[in-house]
Amino acid sequence: MFQPKTIIEPFRVKVVEPLPQHPRSVRAEALKDARFNIFAVPAEKVTIDLMTDSGTSAMSQEQWAAVMRGDESYAGARSFFSFKKTVQDLTGMGHIIPVHQGRAAEKILFSIMGGEGKVIPANTHFDTTRANVEFSGAEALDFVIEEGLDPSIEHPFKGNVDIQKLTAWLEKNHERVPLMVLTVTNNSGGGQPVSLENIRQTREVLQRWDIPLFLDSARFAENAWFIKMREEGQAGRTPREIAQEMFRLCDGAMMSAKKDGFGNIGGFLAINHDEIAGECRNLLILTEGFPTYGGLAGRDLEALAVGLEEVLDEHYLDYRISSTAYVWHHLDRLGVPLLRPAGGHAVYLDGRAFLSHLDPAELPGQAVSIALFLEGGIRVCEIGTVMFGSTREDGLQNASPMDLVRLAIPRRVYTQSHMDYVVEAVAYVFDKRKELGGLRIVEESSALRHFTCAFEPIGWDPLKA
Ligand code: F0G
Repeated sequence: MFQPKTIIEPFRVKVVEPLPQHPRSVRAEALKDARFNIFAVPAEKVTIDLMTDSGTSAMSQEQWAAVMRGDESYAGARSFFSFKKTVQDLTGMGHIIPVHQGRAAEKILFSIMGGEGKVIPANTHFDTTRANVEFSGAEALDFVIEEGLDPSIEHPFKGNVDIQKLTAWLEKNHERVPLMVLTVTNNSGGGQPVSLENIRQTREVLQRWDIPLFLDSARFAENAWFIKMREEGQAGRTPREIAQEMFRLCDGAMMSAKKDGFGNIGGFLAINHDEIAGECRNLLILTEGFPTYGGLAGRDLEALAVGLEEVLDEHYLDYRISSTAYVWHHLDRLGVPLLRPAGGHAVYLDGRAFLSHLDPAELPGQAVSIALFLEGGIRVCEIGTVMFGSTREDGLQNASPMDLVRLAIPRRVYTQSHMDYVVEAVAYVFDKRKELGGLRIVEESSALRHFTCAFEPIGWDPLKA
């Protein structure tokens, strides 16, 4: 019997979008105009856009067909009920509140449950989650296992919570904790999964003090696939069964459906608590919209209802996780320093090891990012000192624990030859890494500075060919 080793894209292409291909000089001009912040570069100048896997998925024919079924009624639209049914079946939660994207769910939840004097623990908070916790006046604390903080260590579930550390901390601080968040997969920690066993243990600890557990479920299906592949006793279960159990171990969930919902926009808040859900809905009406559309069009709700089903397809998940690993293995073979092992949605370069001749304060992750854009037209995202560090009074940088460069892979968008091109471009930049210098921040905002800050190269000219 033919047993293929090649894992093929489980789709064929029906609509195509031209890929922008420009000479280096055009990119140099664009980067100069953007003051070396690639968020300010027009997408039209980017050949392969790996900045994010969020909102960048290709929708399926079934999703586009569902768009046509969108019911745009203000209240009680049919589309809401198909969305609600899908999300309820997946999460088992009583209250399903649609929002326009993940951070809207965070803003609503933490406005109600956060506040001055409170602390919200997590494995690792994603940047918008942390920012929304802090905006409410509360503190965001991370309890990921030690292995999760070291890019070079191999561990099957690097997104896991350090249960001992969490327990010891809660014994002293539980009164200040209104809820805990588990990010699956752990985006800021390298797209690494959390095991079912760890979710169970986290829940058990929290139950001692009646603290609710919320899943930040943007990449729940990828997490479920890792559990199936790596966790003892899980191989025989379907991704759906595993995902359903992940949600059922929690009291609530926030989701940016721009990831594993295959949506270009959308999200939800799912809650198993009548009173909190009621308060969230009141705030939703104020900030997002009526509870049966919550900042989305009926057609978006329909597309998400289909996407949330499609994402659990085994052929899709096998292809998805394997194609990320494909890029990772090729780069690993070339000796490029990587966060180990491959993540679900992204490959993370270890920017600090990549440019080991630079100090973290010279923003090595940003230097790698601009080089990838200049040389290959590849747009990536720095997840390091630019994103999580801060400028001290004396103008120097407080470095973040890691300087990662994320190559996030949009879902169902690029083919294997695109990925081969990416590998080639990274290899080229890696070969000439000694020629790369650092950068400094010359302008920044007080929150989420990475989106808008401006940079200046320190003593080198990256634009020179
Ligand atoms: N939680 C996680 C784990 C995320 O990765 C994101 C977004 C959010 C929440 C916020 O969702 O963008 O819909 O408001 N992550 C994107 C990324 C932006 O590139 O990783 P959102």
